[in-house]
Amino acid sequence: MPVELKRIEEFACLTLNRPEALNALSFDILRQIGQALDEVATMRDIRALFITGTGSKAFCAGADIKELRNRPLAEQRRGAALGQQVFARLDRLPVASVALVNGYAFGGGLELALAATFRLCTPNAVFGLPEVTLGLIPGYGGTQRLPRAIGEARALDMILSGRPVKAEEAERIGLVHRLVEKEALLEESLAFARRFSCHSLPVLEFARRAVQRGMELPLDQGLQLEMELSTLAFRTADAEEGMRAFEEKRKPEFKDV
Ligand code: CAA
Repeated sequence: MPVELKRIEEFACLTLNRPEALNALSFDILRQIGQALDEVATMRDIRALFITGTGSKAFCAGADIKELRNRPLAEQRRGAALGQQVFARLDRLPVASVALVNGYAFGGGLELALAATFRLCTPNAVFGLPEVTLGLIPGYGGTQRLPRAIGEARALDMILSGRPVKAEEAERIGLVHRLVEKEALLEESLAFARRFSCHSLPVLEFARRAVQRGMELPLDQGLQLEMELSTLAFRTADAEEGMRAFEEKRKPEFKDV
């Protein structure tokens, strides 16, 4: 199957499995990612989602260029809409997601990783939005999510030059959250995810929504959103448990309610 969904302990893991084309995103694969994400959204017992690509060479080399080339313009626009919608579904999943970038993440591949909550990468990872080198511009969210992730100046540098960015630079400019050794990728990913997923899931969701939706709003509206979400967090049983555990000098036992 070109898109596989499995469980790794308390997490779900979505794997792009088309190594012969460096896991390039055909429209069929995009649709399958969408279906897998719908399934993840219904999995009540997972605490986060990992996304990765099969093979040691690429996370994902972007949209399938051979398929793009032969598409009429109207179909092209529908394809861009599909890519944007699928990646928005990832962005808005009820649990946080972690992209494990184990090689090239170009074009739509980087845009997929940018729609995840976190990005980890191995030393052989290379990132880029090379669309201008094809006479195109990023179309699955890259022009919007990249500047939000690394700032306008650095995003313009990457998008207008189309240049590849290696793992160390990616970590330095904040494009990835951690650079991890290849042999330790699974172990480090589990440890990274457990660092946040041990907390109350609804509370994590409020915090993530406050940051991510707040980034789309003017400051005063973002602060209003924070007020509403922090009030909702306060009303959870986990908030009661967390504050009681502090007073009783013990570890909280969150129940995700
Ligand atoms: N689409 C379709 N096929 C692709 C592909 C892509 N994006 N990227 C790689 N492949 C295929 C190659 O055609 C090749 O297949 P064949 O063996 O049948 O020829 C196979 O994968 C292996 O690739 P290479 O031989 O090119 O491998 P390499 O190691 O020499 O180079 C690479 C690796 C630098 C990543 C190179 O493959 C490359 O530049 N790929 C294209 C990257 C790119 O431009 N991505 C942006 C796409 S446009 C986009 O994503 C728009 C958007 O915003 C959604």
